[in-house]
Amino acid sequence: MDTLFTQKYGSWALVTGAAMGLGAEFALQLAQKGLSIIAIDNNQAALEATAQGIKSKTNVDVRPIHLDLARADFLEVLLPQIEDCEVGLLVNNAGISKIGYFAPQSKDFLSQQLHINTKVVLLLTHHFTQQMQARKRGGIIILSSGAGELSSAYNAVYAATKAFDLKLAESLWAELKPFGVDVLGFMPGPTKTPGYIAQGGDGAGSMVMSAQVSVQQALKALGKSPNYVAGSFLMRFGHYFLTRFLPTKLRIKIVSHQIKTLFKVS
Ligand SMILES: NC(=O)c1ccc[n+]([C@@H]2O[C@H](COP(=O)([O-])OP(=O)(O)OC[C@H]3O[C@@H](n4cnc5c(N)ncnc54)[C@H](OP(=O)(O)O)[C@@H]3O)[C@@H](O)[C@H]2O)c1
Repeated sequence: MDTLFTQKYGSWALVTGAAMGLGAEFALQLAQKGLSIIAIDNNQAALEATAQGIKSKTNVDVRPIHLDLARADFLEVLLPQIEDCEVGLLVNNAGISKIGYFAPQSKDFLSQQLHINTKVVLLLTHHFTQQMQARKRGGIIILSSGAGELSSAYNAVYAATKAFDLKLAESLWAELKPFGVDVLGFMPGPTKTPGYIAQGGDGAGSMVMSAQVSVQQALKALGKSPNYVAGSFLMRFGHYFLTRFLPTKLRIKIVSHQIKTLFKVS
C-alpha cells in the first residue's frame, strides 16, 4: 500500500491489454500500491486468470472487462461498465505490432494497428483527461516505444504509431501539469512479454528486461518526467546516443539492421 500514490492516482486504475505482458504487470503493481483495477483485454481466459492472480495477492477490487478494443464502438461499450468508478490513473498499454516488410501487410491489419495504437489511446485519454482535469489530480501513462523515436525498416507503421503516442504524451504533460495531472510517454526497452516472444525475439539478450523491472521504472518516472526510456544503463545510453548524436540516415540504417537481425526478417 502506497498512501501518497493512492491519494494522487486513486481510486481506480484502468489498464488496457491487461491480460498479459506489461499490462498484466502494470495491473499487479498498481494493485499492490492500493489502486482498484479495471483490466481490459480481448483474451478472456488470460484476463480472468490475471484478475484472479491479482485478487489472490492484494485486497483491492479488480474488474476484468472482456472487450476487443478494435471495435469502432469500444468506448460506448466500455463506459457503461465503469460509470461507478473514479478513474485516477489511465494506462494506455494495449498495442499491436508485426515486424516485417510493409508492402505485404494487409490493409485490414494496418488499419487495426493504427486504430489500437493511436485512436484508442487518443479517445481514452481525451475522455479521462476531462474528468481528471476537473478533479485536479490523476495520471496517464501512454506506452510508446523506443521505435517511436528511432524509426526503422520492417517496423514502419508501429514506429509511426508510437511516435504519435510519444508526442501526445509529451505535449499533454505540459498542458495538464498545471491541473495536477501527470502524463508519461513510456518507452520500454526490449521486454520479455508474450508479444515480444511472438515477434520472434528470443528474450535472452542482455538488453532484454523483465516486465516487472520495466513497470517499476515507469511508475517511478510518472510525475517526474514527460518521457522515460526503460532499461539498463547501456540500453538507455544506446538510445540517447542513437537519437541525439548520430545523423538520421546512419541511425535509421543501424536500427533497421538490428531489427532485421534480432527478429530474423527475410
Ligand atoms: N515488449 C516490448 O519489448 C515492448 C517494447 C516497447 C513498447 N512496448 C509496448 O508495450 C505495450 C504492451 O506490450 P506487450 O509486449 O506487453 O504486449 P503483449 O505481450 O502482446 O500483450 C498485449 C496485451 O494486449 C491485448 N490486446 C491486443 N489487442 C487487443 C485488443 N484489440 N483489445 C483488447 N486487448 C488487446 C493482448 O491480447 P491478445 O494477445 O489476445 O491480442 C495482450 O493481452 C504495447 O503497447 C507495446 O507496443 C512493448
